[in-house]
Amino acid sequence: MPGVREVPVELTVNGTTRSAVVPARTLLVHFLRDHLGLTGTHVGCDTTQCGACTVALDGVAVKSCTVLAAQADGCAVTTIEGLAAADGTLHPVQQAFRDEHALQCGYCTPGMVMAVRQLIEDQPSPTEDQVRHALDGNICRCTGYQNIVAAALRAAHGTADGTTPGENGTAPGENGGRA
Ligand code: FES
Ligand code: FES
Repeated sequence: MPGVREVPVELTVNGTTRSAVVPARTLLVHFLRDHLGLTGTHVGCDTTQCGACTVALDGVAVKSCTVLAAQADGCAVTTIEGLAAADGTLHPVQQAFRDEHALQCGYCTPGMVMAVRQLIEDQPSPTEDQVRHALDGNICRCTGYQNIVAAALRAAHGTADGTTPGENGTAPGENGGRA
């Protein structure tokens, strides 16, 4: 591309080495979506506010609209497409979102799932307040957050309200007794 500085980048994305030569200004989110076709990572703002673009970079959740592809050179990236097992079994956080009906349009969902995955890695037994704090960088325009918080608690504790399974009369996999 004339007049545009290009750089080679090589990343391991969802376990596969991917390389390309891209304009130096290319954001990681655009590299994932436009160069690799991994469109599960969404762009909601491009200004580091909404969290729809959250991925794991060397195991740590980042907003991929805030990282240049060149900065991620040599790193391992996990996107929403890389969370489920090879046989299609959902990641526990994905399953919890499904169980709790924690999405409507789904636009924020990949970023929410990646953020919750990070939360539970950092705090395996989070309180509801810790869940809400951890998700304050992820915006959902649809759900009112209640079911997203319930999903995060279910992913961590096995129940939608963060109690021990059976403690509130529900079993894991049930909907916390809510409608
Ligand atoms: S697109 Fe990255 S935070 Fe909104
Ligand atoms: S489910 Fe629509 S933005 Fe969150």
